[in-house]
Amino acid sequence: MTWLITGGAGFIGAHVVRAMAAAGERTVVLDDLSTGSADRLPPGVPLETGTVLDRATVDRVLREHAVTGIVHIAGKKQVAESVARPLYYYRENVEGIRVLLEAAAEAGTGRFLFSSSAAVYGMPDVDLVTEDTPCAPINPYGESKLAGEWLVSAVGRAHGMATASLRYFNVAGAATPELGDAGVFNLVPMVFERLDAGERPRVFGDDYPTPDGTCVRDYIHVEDIASAHVAAARRLAADPDASLVLNIGRGEGVSVTEMIDVIREVTGHRDAAVEVTGRRPGDPARVVAAADRIRAELDWTARHGVKEMVASAWAGWRRRHP
Ligand code: WQD
Repeated sequence: MTWLITGGAGFIGAHVVRAMAAAGERTVVLDDLSTGSADRLPPGVPLETGTVLDRATVDRVLREHAVTGIVHIAGKKQVAESVARPLYYYRENVEGIRVLLEAAAEAGTGRFLFSSSAAVYGMPDVDLVTEDTPCAPINPYGESKLAGEWLVSAVGRAHGMATASLRYFNVAGAATPELGDAGVFNLVPMVFERLDAGERPRVFGDDYPTPDGTCVRDYIHVEDIASAHVAAARRLAADPDASLVLNIGRGEGVSVTEMIDVIREVTGHRDAAVEVTGRRPGDPARVVAAADRIRAELDWTARHGVKEMVASAWAGWRRRHP
């Protein structure tokens, strides 16, 4: 197999490329470098600079590298930006996957793995979110991921492609400091930023119906996300009829307060006080994956805990903010 990894120069994509390469899979990366960076790629992995929206580029890359499977990770992922710029999100995420699937179908590429998100569930009112929990996204970002999943399964059925959509829960951590996330829009880097600036980390609401009043999430190490892709890619390679939708989570709920406690310990800011602000609009009280289906289907479970996520993320942060 030769796997095309779109978005392979981005934060999650580069971890997937690294894990696929370590597992002996041949890969080629297509990335427009809008948020990715070529120096994230391991040596020997070819980089094609371009966008999945450009059909001619996609056709050429599929042909020249004799691609037999696609891992589609390229996309836009900021919830607030998607609310402000829905047309942009639908173009990048929905039109992007449409073009890629059309090219794959015409080229006869038989395997397609898609990066989806727990954002497809919206505000799930269940203790553990299973893949059968109804999808009800509450922002254009989540809508664009759900539309992508629909296309993936419909095209897979119509054109005889093995497919998988992987719904990531809250990704954190880094395999190495160099591969750390440069973005600052999630809880862990936002807390780092405040602590580094000598400011109090913000807690967006402590009056939720959860044990300590703060929101509960299922945090997952990006290396575990990457190993789940390797397992899914192997399954698709072995099973041309596969049509999978899988949560990638740990099934363990961690509250904002608990996460900040781990961050205090790891960063040495032991006595840092927090500032409780109002709730952030659109935040569900609790989103935790049921991780049974991926275990059953791929024999995969997460290996890393919250402390390793925070410690590895902090090493990356320190490297960028010496
Ligand atoms: C986690 C919790 C905040 C910052 C989003 C998207 C999701 C996926 C991942 C992309 C929440 C709280 C945060 C802070 C806080 N996106 N928080 N203080 O919102 O669960 O998920 O990112 O693929 O689709 O919705 O992640 O890291 O922003 O927030 O209290 O300074 O931390 O309210 O409860 P979220 P997050």
